[in-house]
Amino acid sequence: MRNIILVGPMGAGKSTIGRLLAKELHLPFKDSDKVIEQRTGASIPLIFDVEGEQGFREREHAVIADLCQAGGLVLATGGGAVLREDNRAALKAGGRIIYLRTSVEQQLARTARDRNRPLLQTADPRQKLTELMALRDPLYRSIADIIIETDERPPRNVVVQILERL
Ligand code: S3P
Repeated sequence: MRNIILVGPMGAGKSTIGRLLAKELHLPFKDSDKVIEQRTGASIPLIFDVEGEQGFREREHAVIADLCQAGGLVLATGGGAVLREDNRAALKAGGRIIYLRTSVEQQLARTARDRNRPLLQTADPRQKLTELMALRDPLYRSIADIIIETDERPPRNVVVQILERL
């Protein structure tokens, strides 16, 4: 069985929705950031600190390649997983891709007190999220089989929408 893969920006709810979806489908749930942390024993902020974003992206690539091959998983990916062409190809080959679309306003509300996202430790997170969205939205769309709007919808409601469209 192929994987069900959630893509989308920080604060889209990929982990929360992925966990609920996996429960409904009786499938294991994996979160690529959590797998990176388990493999290294280090937090995402520490990896960014020590190895830079480039080092993190290498680790992310290795994890995505492995998880996409596994099959039968619900997989939540980091917001930047779509940046690399080789990742996009692995994701596309690895399963059904669901893009959880979210506005920058919602992203800000959901990530406001979060210290675990190095890219948002900046003076102007709104500006950063806007730039990231402009760059990445076309990439999410380019590989998505299903696009789901998550604004103004509780996670359980989003899960029902996904189940209807799988
Ligand atoms: C990132 C998103 C994060 C994490 C890392 C980089 C990004 O994952 O992979 O901080 O580039 O957007 P979430 O989307 O789960 O927050």
